[in-house]
Amino acid sequence: MKDLIKVNIQELSCHQPIGVFDSGVGGLTVAREIKRLLPNENLIYFGDTKHLPYGDKSREAIVEYSTQITHFLLQQNCKAIVIACNTATANALKEVLALVAGRVPVIDVINPVTEKVAYEIHTNVGVIATKATVSSGLYRKSIRKHNKYIKVDELATPLLVPAIEEGFKNHPITQAIISNYLSNPKLKNIETLILGCTHYPLLIDEIRQYYGNRVRVIDSPNIVANQLQMVLEKYQLLNHQHSHPYYHFYLSDITQNFEKISKNFFGNKITLELKTL
Ligand code: DGL
Repeated sequence: MKDLIKVNIQELSCHQPIGVFDSGVGGLTVAREIKRLLPNENLIYFGDTKHLPYGDKSREAIVEYSTQITHFLLQQNCKAIVIACNTATANALKEVLALVAGRVPVIDVINPVTEKVAYEIHTNVGVIATKATVSSGLYRKSIRKHNKYIKVDELATPLLVPAIEEGFKNHPITQAIISNYLSNPKLKNIETLILGCTHYPLLIDEIRQYYGNRVRVIDSPNIVANQLQMVLEKYQLLNHQHSHPYYHFYLSDITQNFEKISKNFFGNKITLELKTL
């Protein structure tokens, strides 16, 4: 995959942390996969829980939050930025890239996934995502830029993020929301489903259960972590040192659910810090 922007890595070192951000717990699904694939890497995560959900916000607000967080992660000396949020990618990628101005690589959650789907999976594709992601049309445009024969149907599924942030996993409410959305006629003929919101992999078992073997559900966090690995390798920024990495979580509002999921994914030794930008 082509780089989004030319990077001047001369001033970067492999020991610097990777910066990851999302509106809330969703980006943890990406951060967890990064930890699994790249266990030596230090991570700084920003969860903008105060402004959640991004999916219902205007493009202007999403740009403002995303650029402020990116600025903060650059100040924390991050060697790469992972926009672990589809809504921020769909609405603010251009502005984030302009702010970063090639100082560090930027990895987003849409381009690596759409490229893989366009080249490797030749079926009817469904995308479920937030309202702000669906209205950008980026998934459709991006898949069809690579492969114009793929049919892409996108559906906004706004109730899933609040249900996940409330911790409603394996809960009748979430199951009712899932079957209501997935039975939408728009998704009737799909053979592949992209979870176009980083929160949704937290419900991947329920979603897979709904479809049985009929529909292939794409594991986006794994594709994104692989893309990050490739990019870091290319710029010789992979940390090969086997020491204990640190995981530092900044939150604009500390919520119980974030604490629970982050500790579940990263263990009890992580630091959660309140940070308003
Ligand atoms: N997890 C995010 C995404 O991938 C944002 C969800 C939201 O805050 O609405 O789109």
